[in-house]
Amino acid sequence: MDILLWHKILRPYEMAVAELLMKFRHLKSEYQQRGEYCPIEQVIGRVKSVSSILDKMQRKQVALDDMEEKIEDIAGIRIICQFVEDIYRVSGVIASRNDMRVTEVKDYIRNQKESGYRSYHLIVLYTVQTLDGPRDVQVEIQIRTMAMDFWATVEHSLQYKYQGRIPEKVDIRLSNAASAIISLDNEMSSVRDDIMDAQLSSRLRYNLVEDIVEMIEKLYQYTTRREVEKIQDEFYRVYQMNDIEELIRYHSELDRIAEAYRIQSNRHGEGVKIIEN
Ligand code: GTP
Ligand code: MG
Repeated sequence: MDILLWHKILRPYEMAVAELLMKFRHLKSEYQQRGEYCPIEQVIGRVKSVSSILDKMQRKQVALDDMEEKIEDIAGIRIICQFVEDIYRVSGVIASRNDMRVTEVKDYIRNQKESGYRSYHLIVLYTVQTLDGPRDVQVEIQIRTMAMDFWATVEHSLQYKYQGRIPEKVDIRLSNAASAIISLDNEMSSVRDDIMDAQLSSRLRYNLVEDIVEMIEKLYQYTTRREVEKIQDEFYRVYQMNDIEELIRYHSELDRIAEAYRIQSNRHGEGVKIIEN
């Protein structure tokens, strides 16, 4: 097979992965900017290597002509979440989007694989615009928790090391580890609310400080150095109080001062309002 041909075949998949990575990462920052809990922890993606595609075709007896239809994971996106609940939230978000169409769902969380593997898989059709017009490509989206990802990564390495014939001793360990991962995910889910609260308030603090610093910088253009120094000193004083309520109060106060100078703080303003009430 000619190298150039592979290159040409894989291009739309490369485009799909690049675009989807950008979109999911953007989604993550949208949650953060709004000061809302983000169900996505990390997004990664890859285009399957030619050798992996050839391996899989051989293993599954797929003819070259059927490759793009039968090998569904040439383009792959992996979304890592903190909690099992987040996985279903993310899959709901994906189902409601109109830039991708879900064609297949495999819930290996409710139906764990015999190997112990757990993850939520979606196959979606995603349209990329090429010089030859629009092209629908299949993309496999794997959604899993950090714990599931840890297990799958380790198991995958062992499969590779033992070429699919993992010794029983190791296999038992893996199976024990899979059970431990289930307990871990369950334990984490039971403190999810607490963890979410903590993360939200740390994010809120981050957004508030970003906002305040920006407003102070802008104020500097409109008022005297002395005035800005006073405002800044007050900020440091409030910050050291280590009290989020005080920081919110100071943020609103500064907002009012800034408004008098017609300076707007709209970078994180939205999120601040959502959490205040
Ligand atoms: P392949 O497993 O890729 O041959 O395709 P399939 O049609 O059986 O789809 P499936 O949804 O079962 O698996 C797709 C992908 O999920 C794989 O390419 C792996 O990335 C991952 N996966 C599935 N099963 C396992 C497993 O037992 N261990 C690990 N580590 N990963 C798995
Ligand atoms: Mg499989």
